[in-house]
Amino acid sequence: MSVKTHDYEKQAGAFAELEMQGTQYLAFRDIPMLIRDHAGSIASVLDYGCGAGRSTRFLKRLGFNAVGVDVSQDMLEQARAKDGSGAYQHIPSGLLPFEDSTFDLVFSSFVFLEVSRIEEIERILKEMKRVLRKDGTIIFVTSSTEATEGNWVSLSYAFPENDKQLRSGDTVKLLIQGVDVVFHDYFWAEEDYIGAAERAGLSLAKLHKPLGSPDDSIEWRDETKMSPTAIYVLRNSPPTPQP
Ligand SMILES: C[S@@+](CC[C@H](N)C(=O)[O-])C[C@H]1O[C@@H](n2cnc3c(N)ncnc32)[C@H](O)[C@@H]1O
Repeated sequence: MSVKTHDYEKQAGAFAELEMQGTQYLAFRDIPMLIRDHAGSIASVLDYGCGAGRSTRFLKRLGFNAVGVDVSQDMLEQARAKDGSGAYQHIPSGLLPFEDSTFDLVFSSFVFLEVSRIEEIERILKEMKRVLRKDGTIIFVTSSTEATEGNWVSLSYAFPENDKQLRSGDTVKLLIQGVDVVFHDYFWAEEDYIGAAERAGLSLAKLHKPLGSPDDSIEWRDETKMSPTAIYVLRNSPPTPQP
């Protein structure tokens, strides 16, 4: 059974206040480096699940022509209010109103953890691949498999409901400190994401788990030892068959 992970009708305003502070900073800090190392020369970017536009504005600040799409009208309203000149479009899950090979990069942050079925993640990845240019790159950011095990600067998983051996498709409860929103995410393990990507005809170029550094000027907690975040860099080519 799928549960409603977030109530964006009520929470879109709070999410719109969320920028890239604390633990959230770590999720985005290394994206410019990953783009430089893996995506090469890019101009057009799709931000899949742009929400209130935080990630789209981030991509625009990096100099890209970014278009945001999302299933939530409430979140899109927030995105448009914060970026009047931006391009934000409403979509049904996994259906993109773009021609084949339109984008150099498809980016997606904190979206797949709201999807209740791995088959749906695979379907979305296939659709992302369709609109991606032939040698393009997909970068998606999500929670790491070990996220519930750490003590983080601005995220808390300290709820009795999470006190169990997590299995793929379980929900976990969490609190984002600062915006004080409590919600649920779906737990997917690395092999779930990698399997879905491979079945969608994509190959894993890198799985990056950013760690906190003294240069960040943030008083990190467990972020220096383990990462709450996993960043998957995928290439638009099928995985090489093993001999
Ligand atoms: C936690 S927000 C993240 C927003 C933004 N990417 C960011 O990092 O600030 C997740 C967003 O994903 C959207 N979303 C959830 N499931 C989706 C799906 N299947 N297809 C497209 N968007 C989806 C939600 O509506 C929400 O706006």
